[in-house]
Amino acid sequence: MIPKIKTIKHLSYKNSICFVTDNKLTGLETEKSISKHLEFLKKQIELEQTMIELHDFPLFYYVAIIFESKNVNVDFEKARILGSQLKQRHRTQKIESLEVVNLTENQALTLPFVEGLMLSSYTFSKYFKDSEKKNGSLKEILIAESGIKKSEIEELQIQSEAVFLARDLGNEPYSTLNTVKFAEEITKTAAESGFKIEILGKKQIESLQMGGLLGVNRGSEYPPFFAVLEWKPEHAVNEKPIVLVGKGIVYDSGGYSLKPTSSMDTMKSDMCGAADVLAIFSIAAQLKLPINLIGLIPSTDNAVSAASYRPGDIIKMHNGLFVEVLNTDAEGRLILADALSYAQKFQPELVLDFATLTGSAVAALGEHGTVAMGKVDKNIFEMICESGEKVHERIVEFPLWDEYAKLIKSEIADLKNIGGSEAGAITAAKFLERFTNYPWIHFDIAGSSFIKSDNEYKTKGATGVGVRLMVEFLKRRINIKK
Ligand code: BES
Ligand code: MG
Ligand code: ZN
Repeated sequence: MIPKIKTIKHLSYKNSICFVTDNKLTGLETEKSISKHLEFLKKQIELEQTMIELHDFPLFYYVAIIFESKNVNVDFEKARILGSQLKQRHRTQKIESLEVVNLTENQALTLPFVEGLMLSSYTFSKYFKDSEKKNGSLKEILIAESGIKKSEIEELQIQSEAVFLARDLGNEPYSTLNTVKFAEEITKTAAESGFKIEILGKKQIESLQMGGLLGVNRGSEYPPFFAVLEWKPEHAVNEKPIVLVGKGIVYDSGGYSLKPTSSMDTMKSDMCGAADVLAIFSIAAQLKLPINLIGLIPSTDNAVSAASYRPGDIIKMHNGLFVEVLNTDAEGRLILADALSYAQKFQPELVLDFATLTGSAVAALGEHGTVAMGKVDKNIFEMICESGEKVHERIVEFPLWDEYAKLIKSEIADLKNIGGSEAGAITAAKFLERFTNYPWIHFDIAGSSFIKSDNEYKTKGATGVGVRLMVEFLKRRINIKK
């Protein structure tokens, strides 16, 4: 159940309420339901509590304390985290409707607070026989006295639902999300949100000579697909499209370079990049963002069978380059490379790819950031980084120095699909670079896209990281027009 966000003029006092205030308890003196507890609240604040609970059975009142800093982005994130602190409570207390009122001067924090509450309400619970009973179910969030525009609420609703879609897809196991099912999901989302979709099947992929995608697919019981998404609104600010590419490995066993069991189960999420692209398109179409977008999703699983590609194989890619496969577990770059060279035909303004590409990115940043590399004007990279700070999906730029190119030179083909033991995220990007001839940024979301336990409003499992980042970036791009 996804909560619906609505606005109400005044608190109704018929539902549980969260009062957002500051450490001076601004606005609460006149709040009849609360004022008798002011002394208690002050004590709690001394104890550095930020979410204080009062009971007026059957209702619950929560007092959320915002400590402002001087940095807007820091405050936004604090507000989101504060919102997410309600999740355990509304779940166990089985609250269905929750009213929220921000009593502080800083009304700009209301939406981030609600966003944190909203995003943290996500659960992947469809495989519990009785999941609603177990998790409770927040059905609506009612924002009172806020002056927030209807369009802002709608945006937050649509964006959060798209993040949930990306999380759902990342969490869905291979047993229920093989390529056939994934293609159906993409088609369904396109129809529901209103963008164009073409799904190329195996025959078409063969005639495009996408040797990377076909090579990785050789061991699979299901055919590959290559999805082409298009969002082309009437009054777009750009002529040449922005192309978004997402790695769509529905399961990565490693192939003959088999992964150990301990790191295999999470590889159901090796299509988080693809899920991001789908979610971003769903938002762009629903919000009718005035920007031309193309999405490319190459998809297969990476399986072991007698038919699988093997270490030592040489494959011919879509752009004609030959690749010596020395590790079948470095499959992501092979399918992405075909998509990146295919992207050339759109003469893109910019290409952005999202991929759970390397363990090296996980080792570098863990779950708290995304590694990015690329060839773009400095101001574009800055826009990306600033967007990341704003939505707290932070970006760290790694270099693409020429020296790293040596590491992927093959003695018998144009290049090989692995570098050495060092700088793995970079050598993977250097590999991809060979298939690009346009401004391009690669996002390695291997660490940030799937997490072991809840982290504030990012819930355990797939996080949907990348979606909010891109929406923020696209909005900024729209605002600079040409
Ligand atoms: N899908 C994995 C990368 C990955 C690792 C994602 C951990 C999320 C968490 C990718 O296909 C892979 O296996 N990469 C290898 C490449 C290596 C063989 C060059 C890796 O990073 O170990
Ligand atoms: Mg792999
Ligand atoms: Zn992979």
